[in-house]
Amino acid sequence: MCGIVGCILNKEVAPTIIESIKKLEYRGYDSVGIATLTDKVNIKKGSGKIKEVDEKIHLTQVDGNIGIAHVRWATHGNPTKENAHPHNSCDNKISVVHNGIIENYKELREQLESEGHEFKSETDTEVIPHLIEKYMNEGNNLLHATQKTIEKLVGSYALAAICIDEPDKIIGARKESPLIVGVSPNGNFLASDVPAILNETREVIYLEDNEIIQLEKDKVTVMNNQLEPLEKEIVTIDWNPEMAEKGGYPHFMLKEINEEPQVIKDTLSESSKIKEIVSKFKNFNRICFVACGTSYHASLIGEYLIETQLHIPTEVILASEFEYFQNTLDDHTLVIFITQSGETADTLKALKTAKKISETLAIVNVVGSSITREADHVIYTRAGPEIGVAATKTYLSQLICIYLLVAHLGENDELIDKLFKIADLAEESIQREENIKKIAKKYKKSKDFFYIGRGFNYPTALEGALKLKEITYIHAEGYPAGELKHGPLALIDDGIPVVGILPPGPSYPKTYNNLQEIRARGAHMIILGSEDDKQIDDVEDKLVFNSEIDEIIAPLIYIIDLQLLSYHISVEKDIDPDKPKNLAKSVTVV
Ligand code: M6R
Repeated sequence: MCGIVGCILNKEVAPTIIESIKKLEYRGYDSVGIATLTDKVNIKKGSGKIKEVDEKIHLTQVDGNIGIAHVRWATHGNPTKENAHPHNSCDNKISVVHNGIIENYKELREQLESEGHEFKSETDTEVIPHLIEKYMNEGNNLLHATQKTIEKLVGSYALAAICIDEPDKIIGARKESPLIVGVSPNGNFLASDVPAILNETREVIYLEDNEIIQLEKDKVTVMNNQLEPLEKEIVTIDWNPEMAEKGGYPHFMLKEINEEPQVIKDTLSESSKIKEIVSKFKNFNRICFVACGTSYHASLIGEYLIETQLHIPTEVILASEFEYFQNTLDDHTLVIFITQSGETADTLKALKTAKKISETLAIVNVVGSSITREADHVIYTRAGPEIGVAATKTYLSQLICIYLLVAHLGENDELIDKLFKIADLAEESIQREENIKKIAKKYKKSKDFFYIGRGFNYPTALEGALKLKEITYIHAEGYPAGELKHGPLALIDDGIPVVGILPPGPSYPKTYNNLQEIRARGAHMIILGSEDDKQIDDVEDKLVFNSEIDEIIAPLIYIIDLQLLSYHISVEKDIDPDKPKNLAKSVTVV
């Protein structure tokens, strides 16, 4: 999983390309590199985040009006300078950046080495410039050599190639990894994702699998894999560059949490579209959700809602485990795929299988992403670009879509009314931030955390724990409140922090009792509950919410405080919450 950019301008290209690739750092930050063309290929690359590498080797100080760049999330080969992209051919005339995985690279490499090609890295990618070189040496131009190359590749790719023999063009191609084109009067761009080009243009062409592109300064030619030209629509993006920037906050994650009240309103404005989509569903008697990570937790809340409100049998399958459950799908199952990026490889793979048998719906944030093009129906979550690796506002927007879906399926106007009241209640979460900061300071040195909830709020416990793990590196576990006595209670010791999610509603008495059992064993309780709850008066660390937020609505509001808690512990521990180690925003490998 990586990010790529390419551009041709009528001026020095490096400063623009480096600004663009910075916008893709959420896709990987193990290494960065740039290649430009003058009378030779000029390369600068190194391992580490863009800022660190730039301070050492000055990435923008490289000449040329045409160039490509890459940020890497290592898959094949360690995150070293040698493995950083771009990768060159033996004669150093051709340079390539690539996102994806070439599954048959070992065979290709052996073949190329037997023909005399010398490799300098451990990457799967390096076979690509050597193959292009081989086909150019046989008399093909860069376009035809790239076409012949991708015919040999098994796996996924979004790639860009340049060559000093054809210094006026970039050739790009995609299969199962995202690639878009940005069109502007000053030149043209290709990139893995829209934020990379928003400073330059809002006119975008989305490439499909097996399409090839030739980018020139004044011309963009999109072709199928037989090199026949295709008519492509140019879409105007309504995100402005500021929307993709930090907007004055120290981190994207904090900015994105603060956007949540607005996101709730924006996503609720999709209500009538969701109603229309619901009216198009065929008959179904079972629902399956398929998702990963945070989107999986949103799906679990969907399961609780559908089972309790609509009485339709529902299950939630982790996308990476989907193949073990696919055999029971039928044409009366509605399969719902939830993904903020729309590019998660496990989810995309499951969708491609499920759509052959069942009706499919995708709930996605990124417009035009791969998953939106595969599903029968698409609901956009409208959260805007999310740059922080930890999903925050996109999670909330997924939940709003799920609640609206359930409300429309059940013609439940009361639920719709409740939803339309919650944006103001979300504002109040943001106002509890000072209290959250104090709690964060107090518990920043803890080694373990437990998160406890019941029913609709059990997935909130899981999501609270995931957020803490991923951005603070503290071990955390989410449990259903009633489950601790079956084993995990043995781990409760003096001083261990336990976050109890205790909204008003029918589950309250049982959850309250479970939390008392934990407290009696010496745990430090951090309770999230109603401001009218007298039973939590003696709890020192608590976050209290408007009492109108009952247990059904609580997942939409309480999670904001848990996101803020993780954020502030991360900052207290001097960790960059936007770029947690070993993770990336968009997981495009299975
Ligand atoms: O783009 P997706 O929603 O499909 O991503 C799924 C997970 O990779 C993602 O939710 C991940 O768990 C987040 N980093 C959580 O904050």
